[in-house]
Amino acid sequence: MMQTVDDPVRLREVLAGVRDQERVAFVPTMGNLHAGHLALVREARRRAGIVVVSIFVNPLQFGPNEDLGRYPRTLDADRKALQAEGVDLLFAPPVEAIYPIPLEQQTRVEVPGISDIHCGAARPGHFSGVATVVCKLFNMVQPDVAVFGKKDYQQLRVIQHMVRDLAMPVEIIGLDTVRERDGLAMSSRNQYLDPEQRRVAPRLYAVLRDGRTRILGGRRDWRALEKEMTAGLAADGLRPDYAAIVDAETLLPPTPQSRQLVILAAAWLGGARLIDNIEIDLNQNHSTGSL
Ligand code: PAF
Repeated sequence: MMQTVDDPVRLREVLAGVRDQERVAFVPTMGNLHAGHLALVREARRRAGIVVVSIFVNPLQFGPNEDLGRYPRTLDADRKALQAEGVDLLFAPPVEAIYPIPLEQQTRVEVPGISDIHCGAARPGHFSGVATVVCKLFNMVQPDVAVFGKKDYQQLRVIQHMVRDLAMPVEIIGLDTVRERDGLAMSSRNQYLDPEQRRVAPRLYAVLRDGRTRILGGRRDWRALEKEMTAGLAADGLRPDYAAIVDAETLLPPTPQSRQLVILAAAWLGGARLIDNIEIDLNQNHSTGSL
């Protein structure tokens, strides 16, 4: 039977009773759970005896004009879905439990460099808000392992850097993006799309796949290819924020030594800012590459 806890002190008490016997796996979420989240939960289950999921819509990672107010909140349905997955503990704190003091006075975790590019350039302060809440949740849950989706690729790298730089004793797992049948990455923000926008939305991943095909076919003129991709997104009716071909570790432009790349992209469709990415293994044989 899944237990739901909203108080960090109670959370600590419950986990203290089991921590000695079992590994603890943690999946932090903002709720409104879809199949992508449930895949993270299943991965957590494979890796530990105790699975903890948090649901917390973190105000610190939303900009002043972003969608904090309208972010979908579906706690009852989420609870049922997690229960069905055999989750042991749901931590669903109110804002005051995570931020008992005014947000301006909150100590923040800054992961420099990697937080300021790509999505970080478009959303100043976003990754500091993510790193701060994930650090805080890690301190509350004290997991052995935590699972994140690769859809938020830059977020995953920011968290890996934070864990490395602050010597946090938690293993970070990145899990492949779960997609709709037409290729659209699953996201709570897909709900903001009207039917016509929803029809267009899979073009984002189609453009990324096309970019990967060209790179595996030998293209190395990254900047020109990025421009072609943003032009392709615009031609398809999206408003591209950026498309960046980068080294998968550093998220900086590839060097001649880079073997693992990722194309990151963000684009607006109506009121939804969609993000997606595709990994590219340059060691892969072109003719057998699964596209
Ligand atoms: O990916 C998310 O849902 C959030 O950014 C996270 C990691 C739960 C932090 O609020």
